Formats: sequence, structure tokens, C-alpha cells
Amino acid sequence: MIKIQVTATKKLILSVSIFTAALSLPAQAAEIQGNAEQGAKNVRLCVGCHAIPGYRSSVPEIYTVPLIGGQSSGYIVAALQAYKKGERKHPTMRSVAGSLSDQDMADLAAYYSAQNAETKANKLK
Ligand code: HEC
Repeated sequence: MIKIQVTATKKLILSVSIFTAALSLPAQAAEIQGNAEQGAKNVRLCVGCHAIPGYRSSVPEIYTVPLIGGQSSGYIVAALQAYKKGERKHPTMRSVAGSLSDQDMADLAAYYSAQNAETKANKLK
């Protein structure tokens, strides 16, 4: 009888800690706020490919580089995370994204999502 009670207590502690961990995860993610001005400082890592309409990267094969200016910040962060995790496979983007922190990604996403038709002259787009 006592043994059963101990097990039940352990299970309760375990489920409470899992619950707490689950609660703290989204809270941390929500704390990351993108800052477009900070993002602008890292854009030099991207303009070599993304700023040039119709530009094709040649490694590892001829590849059209997508325009990312004006895309939603959520999409940009999700794409960068997917490259970092290896869920997206493009090798150059994987190494670029691998060097970015969550904050860097949020900042770059804030920068790029703020680009629109009126900012066309912006060379860093
Ligand atoms: C060497 C060239 C190169 C550099 C540098 C580069 N990218 Fe890319 N990027 C690409 C290519 C090529 C793709 C498309 C790859 C694919 O199809 O998965 C891509 C895809 C992306 C995508 C997904 C776009 C979509 O429509 O799904 C995002 C977001 C992105 N890059 C952001 C960045 C950011 C931010 C930087 C700078 C920190 C950067 N890239 C630097 C070549 C580059």
C-alpha cells in the first residue's frame, strides 16, 4: 500500500515538472522580439544572394535564390530554423542559418518583413 502511494507521488511530481517545462517553452519563445535595426546589421550575410532579383547561386547547383523582402517574419524565422535543424537541406542556407541565434533570426525577419514596394531602392533588400 505504501509502495503504491510513493509511486503515485513520483508520478505526480513528474507530471508537474513536465507541465512546468511545457509552460516555460512558449514563454521563452514569446520573449524574442525581432528588431529590424539589429537585423539590418546582419543583412550583409544575406545580400550576396538575396538582394539580386533573378540571381542564381551556383553551389551546389544552379539555383534560383528566392526574394525574401516582404515575406512574413514568422515565415522567415520558420524557414531559417528549418535550415538550421536540417529539415531544409540547401547546404549554403544551412551554414548561414547555423551561424544565427534565435535573436539574429528574429531581427533579420523583422528587417526583411518590413521591406515592401516603397523600399525598392534599398540596396540591402
Ligand atoms: C550563398 C547564397 C545565399 C546566402 C548568403 C543566403 N541565402 Fe538564403 N537562400 C539561398 C537559396 C539558394 C535559397 C533557396 C534554397 C532552398 O530552396 O531551400 C535560400 C532560401 C532562403 C529562405 C527561404 C525562402 C523561401 O521562400 O522559402 C530564407 C528565409 C532565407 N534564405 C534567408 C536568408 C537570410 C536571412 C540570409 C542571411 C543571414 C541568407 N538567406 C543568406 C541563398 C542564400
